[in-house]
Amino acid sequence: MERVFSGMRPTGKLHLGHLAGALTNWVKLQDSYDCYYSIVDWHAMMSDYEDPSMMRQNCTEVLLDWLASGIDPEKSCVFVQSHVHEHAELALALAMVTPLGWLFRNPIYKEQLRNIENRDIQNYAFLGYPVLMAADILLYKATIVPVGEDQDAHLELSREIARRFNHFFGENRLPEPQMLLTPTPKVPGTDGRKMSKSYNNSLLISEDSGSMWEKLRTMVTDPARIKRTDPGEPDKCPVWDIQKVFNNDQQELLEIAEGCRTAGIGCIDCKKKLNGHVDRVMAPILEKRRKYENSPELLSDILNEGAKRARKVARETMLELREAMGLLIES
Ligand code: TRP
Repeated sequence: MERVFSGMRPTGKLHLGHLAGALTNWVKLQDSYDCYYSIVDWHAMMSDYEDPSMMRQNCTEVLLDWLASGIDPEKSCVFVQSHVHEHAELALALAMVTPLGWLFRNPIYKEQLRNIENRDIQNYAFLGYPVLMAADILLYKATIVPVGEDQDAHLELSREIARRFNHFFGENRLPEPQMLLTPTPKVPGTDGRKMSKSYNNSLLISEDSGSMWEKLRTMVTDPARIKRTDPGEPDKCPVWDIQKVFNNDQQELLEIAEGCRTAGIGCIDCKKKLNGHVDRVMAPILEKRRKYENSPELLSDILNEGAKRARKVARETMLELREAMGLLIES
């Protein structure tokens, strides 16, 4: 079975953008592929090393959100990156064949240098972010990597690093991973901008139904629709984007769009309908999350088991690569 690898940085509770954009897809992949899903704490630390106080809790939150969303540790290998030491080791090995120019020219790095102001990211580790990411994937010889379009440059670097490693240490030793781009529905935040922790506009997976309604109720709509009697335009309304993701009733969707355009219904009417659908989808997820929240031993069992499984593959790969690189193997 072909292998899938993907990772998420533990930056805190996940939101509906993560659910619709990534997790729903990861869950589907579990039935057709040998999936490895990693909470990449070293990656989070590369930019957030100044304040590691939330790291441990953030890892737990991500795990809870994954499990609640349907990531199944019976099907997939779910683990924390730092638990499998071979990630760090392979990153060091790959660093040998990674020219500095590739890293300095990485468009994602350049963009982050321009945009990140509240943290000092002028450190050696952050420059090497794509090297560790390549190690994550190549350690398991994963060929399929489901990620967002924003990771395109990183995936390309992973392939280039694999190719250069093979050039020095043996053709076809490391397979070149391919990006799996899946259609990602637009899930804007409550202010209409991209949903993001840093904008404080997120609808969380762990949101209880009361606060979910409060956020939806006060969410911005088509800015041209000021009064109840003003007609609106769904295509200019962020609530409509979310409606399209969660509302599975085609007839009702048509009625809402028509009602909005003719001022036949108000924004609150539309939002109430949306809330019903969000509630329908999220209630079982929330219930599952609560169950896991109350079983911390189960969570550590899952991570221990995942690390054990991952380590087995990782050790095999590293033994092979150490030999290929001409290192003296201990006996
Ligand atoms: N860079 C990825 C992101 O920010 C996270 C990540 C780290 C990752 N290692 C990975 C994704 C390996 C896929 C495969 O989304």
